[in-house]
Amino acid sequence: MNHCEPAAKRGRCCRPILDLSFCVVLSEAQDEWDRIAREPERARDVIEEVLRLRSAATSFGRLALQDVELGGERFAAGSTVLGSIWSANRDPKEFPRPEELAVDENRGSVQIAFGQGAHHCLGAALARAELQESLIALAARMRCPKLEPGAQFLPPIGINGPTMLPISFEVRA
Ligand code: HEM
Repeated sequence: MNHCEPAAKRGRCCRPILDLSFCVVLSEAQDEWDRIAREPERARDVIEEVLRLRSAATSFGRLALQDVELGGERFAAGSTVLGSIWSANRDPKEFPRPEELAVDENRGSVQIAFGQGAHHCLGAALARAELQESLIALAARMRCPKLEPGAQFLPPIGINGPTMLPISFEVRA
């Protein structure tokens, strides 16, 4: 079972939650928003950076089937290990500007919003394409959204992001 399944059952799938997350992140980055309206090809890099900063999947769990040593730590067979995607995606050894939306500076570093290795997300290409196309369409038609009071967020475990996000915006002339 992967995180997407329980999330979808509760009506909390990571893709729509990420749509809202990119509104949260980009509401503070009006320049990037307007730049996508002028340069839609930039949406690819912007989405990658938003995925890094606000990954909908916060972590993944693993069960050690045998004794294993990883990064200097020993895990006995039967241990449960929780890998934090959020920590990895803000690792200062990997990202020049880990805590900010810095599209150009952080480009080229590896982010793991879709996991890594054998269980890498099967829907990653679809999710990326949908996010890019919706960002391009929204930036072309509306000005940068402004957050209004009343947002509600899931707790920072499992799938995270807003479940309710009141915004206001102006239509582009
Ligand atoms: C932006 C939205 C999404 C995010 C952030 C995301 C993230 C992830 C992550 C982190 C994993 C790895 C879990 C682990 O290692 O235990 C994963 C696995 C998986 N994802 Fe997604 N995912 C997204 C959308 C989708 C979509 C749209 C689909 C299907 C169309 C999908 C299908 C899967 C499947 C089947 C796996 C399990 C792969 C395996 O265990 O071999 N995901 N996803």
